[in-house]
Amino acid sequence: MAHLVAPSILSADFANIQRDVEMINKSEADWFHVDVMDGVFVPNISFGFPVIKAIKKHAKKPLDVHLMIVDPDRYITTFKEAGADVLTVHMEACTHLHRTLQSIKANGMKAGVALNPHTNIHTLEDVICDVDLVCLMSVNPGFGGQKFIENTYHKVAVLKAMIKNKKGHTLIEIDGGVDLNNYKKLLQAGADVLVAGNTVFASSNPTETIKQLKLA
Ligand code: DX5
Ligand code: ZN
Repeated sequence: MAHLVAPSILSADFANIQRDVEMINKSEADWFHVDVMDGVFVPNISFGFPVIKAIKKHAKKPLDVHLMIVDPDRYITTFKEAGADVLTVHMEACTHLHRTLQSIKANGMKAGVALNPHTNIHTLEDVICDVDLVCLMSVNPGFGGQKFIENTYHKVAVLKAMIKNKKGHTLIEIDGGVDLNNYKKLLQAGADVLVAGNTVFASSNPTETIKQLKLA
Protein backbone atom coordinates (compact mmCIF):
# COMPACT_ATOMS: atom_id res chain seq x y z
CA MET A 1 0.00 0.00 0.00
CA ALA A 2 1.24 3.50 -0.82
CA HIS A 3 1.83 5.45 2.35
CA LEU A 4 -0.53 8.16 3.57
CA VAL A 5 0.23 11.73 4.60
CA ALA A 6 -1.84 13.43 7.29
CA PRO A 7 -1.06 17.13 7.85
CA SER A 8 -1.70 18.16 11.46
CA ILE A 9 -4.24 20.96 11.76
CA LEU A 10 -2.63 21.94 15.10
CA SER A 11 -0.04 23.88 13.10
CA ALA A 12 -2.61 25.56 10.81
CA ASP A 13 -3.65 29.21 11.06
CA PHE A 14 -6.85 29.08 13.13
CA ALA A 15 -7.88 32.52 11.97
CA ASN A 16 -7.79 31.17 8.42
CA ILE A 17 -8.89 27.62 9.05
CA GLN A 18 -11.08 27.35 5.96
CA ARG A 19 -8.18 28.46 3.74
CA ASP A 20 -5.88 25.84 5.27
CA VAL A 21 -8.53 23.11 5.00
CA GLU A 22 -9.00 23.96 1.31
CA MET A 23 -5.23 23.82 0.80
CA ILE A 24 -5.22 20.25 2.17
CA ASN A 25 -8.29 19.35 0.07
CA LYS A 26 -6.47 20.39 -3.09
CA SER A 27 -3.13 18.84 -2.08
CA GLU A 28 -1.94 15.24 -2.32
CA ALA A 29 -2.59 14.75 1.42
CA ASP A 30 -4.74 11.77 2.38
CA TRP A 31 -6.17 12.64 5.81
CA PHE A 32 -6.58 15.57 8.18
CA HIS A 33 -4.79 14.88 11.49
CA VAL A 34 -6.78 16.56 14.26
CA ASP A 35 -5.13 16.85 17.71
CA VAL A 36 -7.42 17.16 20.73
CA MET A 37 -5.67 18.06 24.01
CA ASP A 38 -7.40 18.42 27.37
CA GLY A 39 -4.76 20.09 29.55
CA VAL A 40 -4.79 17.01 31.85
CA PHE A 41 -3.38 14.11 29.83
CA VAL A 42 -0.97 16.57 28.18
CA PRO A 43 0.23 19.99 29.37
CA ASN A 44 -1.64 21.88 26.66
CA ILE A 45 -5.22 22.58 25.53
CA SER A 46 -5.94 22.66 21.80
CA PHE A 47 -9.58 22.70 20.66
CA GLY A 48 -12.81 20.74 20.90
CA PHE A 49 -16.04 19.92 19.10
CA PRO A 50 -16.97 23.30 17.53
CA VAL A 51 -13.59 23.49 15.77
CA ILE A 52 -13.75 19.86 14.59
CA LYS A 53 -17.25 20.45 13.20
CA ALA A 54 -16.03 23.57 11.39
CA ILE A 55 -13.16 21.58 9.84
CA LYS A 56 -15.53 18.75 8.88
CA LYS A 57 -17.83 21.18 7.10
CA HIS A 58 -15.11 21.94 4.53
CA ALA A 59 -12.92 18.83 4.61
CA LYS A 60 -13.11 16.50 1.61
CA LYS A 61 -10.80 13.89 3.18
CA PRO A 62 -11.13 11.72 6.31
CA LEU A 63 -10.57 13.22 9.77
CA ASP A 64 -7.96 11.32 11.77
CA VAL A 65 -8.72 12.48 15.30
CA HIS A 66 -5.97 11.98 17.90
CA LEU A 67 -7.32 12.23 21.44
CA MET A 68 -4.79 13.33 24.04
CA ILE A 69 -7.41 13.28 26.76
CA VAL A 70 -8.14 11.29 29.91
CA ASP A 71 -11.19 9.01 29.98
CA PRO A 72 -11.94 9.19 26.22
CA ASP A 73 -14.87 6.74 26.57
CA ARG A 74 -17.06 9.65 27.72
CA TYR A 75 -16.90 11.30 24.30
CA ILE A 76 -16.76 8.55 21.66
CA THR A 77 -20.24 9.18 20.25
CA THR A 78 -19.73 12.95 20.35
CA PHE A 79 -16.54 12.68 18.29
CA LYS A 80 -18.41 10.56 15.77
CA GLU A 81 -21.11 13.22 15.54
CA ALA A 82 -18.45 15.93 15.15
CA GLY A 83 -17.06 14.12 12.10
CA ALA A 84 -14.25 11.78 13.17
CA ASP A 85 -13.48 8.94 10.72
CA VAL A 86 -10.51 7.49 12.60
CA LEU A 87 -10.54 7.89 16.39
CA THR A 88 -7.27 7.30 18.26
CA VAL A 89 -7.04 7.01 22.02
CA HIS A 90 -3.89 6.80 24.14
CA MET A 91 -2.96 3.45 25.60
CA GLU A 92 -1.86 5.34 28.75
CA ALA A 93 -5.33 6.90 29.15
CA CYS A 94 -7.38 3.70 28.85
CA THR A 95 -7.96 1.28 31.72
CA HIS A 96 -10.13 -0.98 29.55
CA LEU A 97 -8.56 -0.48 26.14
CA HIS A 98 -10.25 -3.48 24.52
CA ARG A 99 -13.68 -2.19 25.47
CA THR A 100 -12.83 1.31 24.24
CA LEU A 101 -11.71 -0.02 20.84
CA GLN A 102 -14.91 -2.05 20.43
CA SER A 103 -16.94 1.00 21.30
CA ILE A 104 -15.14 3.16 18.70
CA LYS A 105 -15.79 0.53 16.02
CA ALA A 106 -19.41 0.06 17.09
CA ASN A 107 -19.79 3.79 16.46
CA GLY A 108 -18.68 3.35 12.86
CA MET A 109 -15.13 4.67 13.12
CA LYS A 110 -11.69 3.14 12.61
CA ALA A 111 -10.05 2.50 15.97
CA GLY A 112 -6.55 3.75 16.74
CA VAL A 113 -4.22 3.44 19.72
CA ALA A 114 -1.43 5.93 20.38
CA LEU A 115 1.69 5.05 22.36
CA ASN A 116 3.82 7.59 24.17
CA PRO A 117 7.58 7.38 23.53
CA HIS A 118 8.15 5.45 26.80
CA THR A 119 5.42 2.85 26.22
CA ASN A 120 6.66 -0.53 25.03
CA ILE A 121 5.29 -1.98 21.78
CA HIS A 122 4.66 -5.33 23.46
CA THR A 123 1.80 -3.82 25.51
CA LEU A 124 -0.13 -4.08 22.21
CA GLU A 125 0.45 -7.80 21.72
CA ASP A 126 -2.95 -9.00 23.00
CA VAL A 127 -5.01 -6.34 21.29
CA ILE A 128 -3.23 -5.68 18.00
CA CYS A 129 -5.76 -7.61 15.88
CA ASP A 130 -8.51 -5.29 17.15
CA VAL A 131 -6.61 -2.14 16.20
CA ASP A 132 -6.95 -0.44 12.80
CA LEU A 133 -4.10 2.01 13.43
CA VAL A 134 -1.23 2.37 15.91
CA CYS A 135 0.01 5.92 16.33
CA LEU A 136 3.62 5.87 17.52
CA MET A 137 4.42 9.14 19.22
CA SER A 138 7.86 10.25 18.09
CA VAL A 139 7.74 13.25 20.49
CA ASN A 140 6.13 13.60 23.90
CA PRO A 141 2.58 14.66 23.03
CA GLY A 142 1.34 18.16 23.72
CA PHE A 143 2.99 20.46 21.22
CA GLY A 144 3.85 20.73 17.56
CA GLY A 145 7.32 21.53 16.31
CA GLN A 146 9.31 19.28 18.69
CA LYS A 147 12.44 17.27 17.95
CA PHE A 148 12.00 13.72 16.60
CA ILE A 149 12.98 10.91 19.02
CA GLU A 150 15.38 8.52 17.23
CA ASN A 151 14.28 5.37 19.11
CA THR A 152 11.10 5.51 17.00
CA TYR A 153 12.78 3.67 14.09
CA HIS A 154 13.34 0.68 16.35
CA LYS A 155 9.72 0.79 17.58
CA VAL A 156 8.37 0.85 14.02
CA ALA A 157 10.40 -2.22 13.09
CA VAL A 158 9.30 -4.19 16.17
CA LEU A 159 5.66 -3.25 15.62
CA LYS A 160 5.81 -4.12 11.91
CA ALA A 161 7.14 -7.58 12.77
CA MET A 162 4.38 -8.10 15.34
CA ILE A 163 1.66 -7.15 12.83
CA LYS A 164 3.14 -9.44 10.16
CA ASN A 165 3.45 -12.27 12.64
CA LYS A 166 -0.25 -11.98 13.49
CA LYS A 167 -1.17 -11.56 9.81
CA GLY A 168 -2.85 -8.28 10.69
CA HIS A 169 -3.63 -5.19 8.64
CA THR A 170 -2.98 -2.54 11.29
CA LEU A 171 -1.55 0.72 9.93
CA ILE A 172 1.48 2.27 11.63
CA GLU A 173 1.30 6.05 11.97
CA ILE A 174 4.20 8.25 13.07
CA ASP A 175 3.37 11.46 14.90
CA GLY A 176 5.84 14.17 15.90
CA GLY A 177 8.90 15.72 14.32
CA VAL A 178 8.40 14.08 10.92
CA ASP A 179 10.30 16.05 8.31
CA LEU A 180 11.80 15.81 4.83
CA ASN A 181 15.04 14.38 6.27
CA ASN A 182 13.58 11.47 8.27
CA TYR A 183 10.39 10.44 6.47
CA LYS A 184 12.02 8.02 4.01
CA LYS A 185 13.83 6.16 6.77
CA LEU A 186 10.50 5.86 8.62
CA LEU A 187 8.83 4.43 5.51
CA GLN A 188 11.68 1.95 5.10
CA ALA A 189 11.24 0.85 8.73
CA GLY A 190 7.55 0.14 8.04
CA ALA A 191 5.52 3.32 8.58
CA ASP A 192 2.20 3.59 6.71
CA VAL A 193 0.94 7.04 7.75
CA LEU A 194 3.05 10.17 8.27
CA VAL A 195 1.67 13.01 10.38
CA ALA A 196 3.32 16.35 9.72
CA GLY A 197 2.46 19.66 11.36
CA ASN A 198 5.34 22.07 11.47
CA THR A 199 7.04 20.59 8.40
CA VAL A 200 3.96 21.34 6.29
CA PHE A 201 2.59 24.57 7.75
CA ALA A 202 5.88 26.36 8.49
CA SER A 203 7.16 25.69 4.99
CA SER A 204 7.01 28.38 2.33
CA ASN A 205 4.93 26.13 0.06
CA PRO A 206 2.79 23.68 2.10
CA THR A 207 1.24 22.05 -0.99
CA GLU A 208 4.69 21.31 -2.41
CA THR A 209 5.92 19.99 0.96
CA ILE A 210 2.97 17.57 1.10
CA LYS A 211 3.85 16.46 -2.42
CA GLN A 212 7.43 15.76 -1.32
CA LEU A 213 6.24 13.76 1.71
CA LYS A 214 4.20 11.60 -0.68
CA LEU A 215 7.30 10.59 -2.64
CA ALA A 216 8.42 7.11 -1.68
C1 DX5 B 1 1.79 16.35 19.20
C2 DX5 B 1 0.68 16.09 18.21
C3 DX5 B 1 1.15 16.07 16.82
C4 DX5 B 1 1.71 17.39 16.34
C5 DX5 B 1 2.78 17.08 15.35
O1 DX5 B 1 1.31 16.20 20.48
O2 DX5 B 1 0.05 14.86 18.46
O3 DX5 B 1 0.16 15.61 15.92
O4 DX5 B 1 0.76 18.22 15.77
O5 DX5 B 1 3.39 18.26 15.00
P1 DX5 B 1 4.83 18.29 14.35
O6 DX5 B 1 4.75 17.55 13.06
O7 DX5 B 1 5.09 19.75 14.19
O8 DX5 B 1 5.77 17.62 15.33
ZN1 ZN C 1 -1.24 13.96 16.82
